[in-house]
Amino acid sequence: MYLLLGIGVFIGVAYVYREIVVKGKRCTSTVRLHGKTAIVTGSNTGIGKITAIDLAKRGARVILACRSKQRGEAALEEVKRESGSSQVVFMQLDLGSLKSVRSFAENFLKTESRLDLLINNAGIYMHGRTEDGLGMMFGVNHIGHFLLTNLLLDRLKACEPSRVVNLSSVAHNFASIDFDCLNKHKALGLGTSFMEVLKAYGDSKLCNVLFNHELAKRLQGTKVTCYALHPGAINSELARNTSSILQLVLKPLTAYFFKNPVQGAQTTLHCALQEGIEPLSGRYFSNCTVRELYPKAKDDAAAKKLWELSEKLCGLA
Ligand SMILES: NC(=O)c1ccc[n+]([C@@H]2O[C@H](COP(=O)([O-])OP(=O)(O)OC[C@H]3O[C@@H](n4cnc5c(N)ncnc54)[C@H](OP(=O)(O)O)[C@@H]3O)[C@@H](O)[C@H]2O)c1
Ligand SMILES: *[C@@H]1O[C@H](CO)[C@@H](O)[C@H](O)[C@H]1NC(C)=O
Ligand SMILES: *[C@@H]1O[C@H](CO)[C@@H](O)[C@H](O)[C@H]1NC(C)=O
Ligand SMILES: *[C@@H]1O[C@H](CO)[C@@H](O)[C@H](O)[C@H]1NC(C)=O
Repeated sequence: MYLLLGIGVFIGVAYVYREIVVKGKRCTSTVRLHGKTAIVTGSNTGIGKITAIDLAKRGARVILACRSKQRGEAALEEVKRESGSSQVVFMQLDLGSLKSVRSFAENFLKTESRLDLLINNAGIYMHGRTEDGLGMMFGVNHIGHFLLTNLLLDRLKACEPSRVVNLSSVAHNFASIDFDCLNKHKALGLGTSFMEVLKAYGDSKLCNVLFNHELAKRLQGTKVTCYALHPGAINSELARNTSSILQLVLKPLTAYFFKNPVQGAQTTLHCALQEGIEPLSGRYFSNCTVRELYPKAKDDAAAKKLWELSEKLCGLA
């Protein structure tokens, strides 16, 4: 009897928790996007794919910027079908290759006339090195998007008001940037243990927030605005390259207690679409709400230093 009651209460609490805390706020903007063009990086799965579908439904021309031709083209069909729009295009982009980022930008600028929304969504959780010898998470999550954003900035300015949205993570709260290691090894850390990989992921996400901070400053006086965000804890493919034991343990937990990708895309959509948030350019959002950052995540000197190092590493300086 008590056991049944206990189970009942547990299920009740878990249900309420899931409905209220996990679900989170929805993006309520009704903005239509006819005549606008959006790029979503890493849009063949997870939050990125849902974001692309939503933007296409609103009438935007949507560029799926994905690294795998096969996965990208499969997503292209799905995004077209789900959104009912034919204004969806796949363009190959591997953020782990500076050459690929440059040729994507060249191809995009040549074939498309506008850019109204750049959604820097792609992210990876895996140690290793990129094609250019950068730490994998630093290279993909930060440097690839850094170069991409810079190469597309003039087009964003020409189409203002326009926006850049950067997917970061709460993981940045526990992070720090080891500039010595970056200078010496072009990586945020060299270890491969669970904690070391977790830390390098968080560090790469701190880079996203610092960049957002510096970019907003550099964009003052233009109508290009930028936003960083934490999407929530999402049941996606992000953990696919972690150990299989960890995945086995995580699966049932994430299936129940993490947001699904539709819920996970809401803060991205809020930052991309919500009218009137332009004065919050450079700020950080979660659950569709602007949040305060710790001082280290809006440290002017660190943001500037990282910007200059990044320019050097991708040959912009
Ligand atoms: N899931 C969470 O709980 C969580 C929490 C906080 C922040 N985030 C952030 O949210 C963003 C979206 O993550 P998600 O959860 O939707 O993950 P996901 O399901 O793993 O999707 C990540 C996307 O990024 C792409 N990608 C990875 N490496 C790439 C590269 N070198 N070049 C181009 N694209 C690349 C992947 O492409 P492939 O399919 O080809 O690998 C995939 O499309 C990420 O920036 C992540 O850090 C997620
Ligand atoms: C998100 O916001 C909703 C509505 O304001 C609130 O009920 C919920 O607890 C919030 N969730 C988180 C994780 O902050
Ligand atoms: C987004 O983050 C990337 C990588 O940290 C950075 O290069 C880019 O400038 C950022 N853009 C904005 C608008 O924050
Ligand atoms: C990462 O995981 C995916 C999906 O399980 C797999 O196809 C890919 O080969 C893995 N990559 C590495 C480098 O382990």
